[in-house]
Amino acid sequence: MGGSKRRSSKTPDPVEEVRDYYENILSSLMDGIVAVDGQYRITIFTTTAEQMSGLKRESVLGTSLFDSFPKGSPIGRFAAKSLQTGRSYLDSNPSLGPYLKERRDIGLATSPLVDTVGQIVGVVIVFRDMSRLKALEARLRKGERLASLGVLAAGMAHEIKNPLGGIRGASQLLREEFAPENSSRELTDIIIREVDRLNQIVQGLLDFSKPHEPRLAPVNIHEILTRVLTLIEIENPKDVLRIERLFDPSLPDINGDADQLAQVFLNIIQNAIDAMAGSGTLSLTTRVLSGFQIRKQTQEKVRMICVDVEDSGCGIAPEEIGSIFDPFFTRKPRGVGLGLALCYRIVEDHGGKIDVESRPGAGTRFSVSLPMSPEGSVREVP
Ligand SMILES: Nc1ncnc2c1ncn2[C@@H]1O[C@H](COP(=O)(O)OP(=O)(O)OP(=O)(O)O)[C@@H](O)[C@H]1O
Ligand SMILES: [Mg+2]
Repeated sequence: MGGSKRRSSKTPDPVEEVRDYYENILSSLMDGIVAVDGQYRITIFTTTAEQMSGLKRESVLGTSLFDSFPKGSPIGRFAAKSLQTGRSYLDSNPSLGPYLKERRDIGLATSPLVDTVGQIVGVVIVFRDMSRLKALEARLRKGERLASLGVLAAGMAHEIKNPLGGIRGASQLLREEFAPENSSRELTDIIIREVDRLNQIVQGLLDFSKPHEPRLAPVNIHEILTRVLTLIEIENPKDVLRIERLFDPSLPDINGDADQLAQVFLNIIQNAIDAMAGSGTLSLTTRVLSGFQIRKQTQEKVRMICVDVEDSGCGIAPEEIGSIFDPFFTRKPRGVGLGLALCYRIVEDHGGKIDVESRPGAGTRFSVSLPMSPEGSVREVP
């Protein structure tokens, strides 16, 4: 086994052919499979098991399981339990770190191997890569948390918005009471300015909790990015902020709401500039992602494009990276912490996703993936 098909010489041996056939099936699975006999001698060790463990099939076949995976390790323990009790065991989160080369989340299952007369003659051990499933679970949990925070935020925002309107109106009337040269006018101006700022925050909350349904139409992502960069360039002189545009000219249109997407990239780029304290290199790359993704809402198979926004700024500490999309998470003295929460919501509403990678002290990359317009997609066969 292990992918290398054994070929018998001239006259094919039927037993060997059947064995080859089953071994090839096992080696084609995405799960790593190891089988041991009643004395814990390894009889099967598939290619995926080799990749996950870092062990070579040739060197472990025929040896004791416990030589490679000690009795105290989850693998040795589970296998022994299955052989002794005849039951199956499953652990989706075992600590396999010291025993496997793969650093991804690997789940473990063991099942007794039973012969035709019902005797337990060995154990099958299955290693399953759980990292995609775990990432999906985390994404779902985040979506639920954001949704419930959204309801709370919407309620609060409504309550605050009305009195704010009253304060602003009254301050304006008060302002008119003072002659232009009266210094009290400055005070009313401060009230009005700060009320406007509060209003902006509250509006942000409302946008976050009840974003308008995206008005989808074929849009060119480069046009959106160029529009956003024009705004950015007005405020940031070229000699301190270098902007690299690495656009793939063959990128097809996507189905999106141009205004909402502009807001997403404005927020992400503004954060990048803040992280660089105004000076550094901002690079925008567009590309088509290989393969298809399943769209959650419609179960459609879609092709995606991706925009990477990379900065050379301060980076994000690993312990904070899980919180940056939470509403009100901010590390900035004048920040509100709604920018990324809103970006996340808008991109989800478009059927896309945002990934982030960061190295503290070196920089951060936000990757926004968005589905292509339906012409470039394929509907899943029911
Ligand atoms: N490119 C980046 N580099 C470093 N830290 C970042 C980056 N982008 C986001 N962050 C961190 O994530 C936090 C949350 O960002 P978010 O945009 O949600 O809020 P904010 O920028 O603080 O406030 P605002 O609501 O005004 O946008 C930031 O305060 C910052 O600490
Ligand atoms: Mg922000």
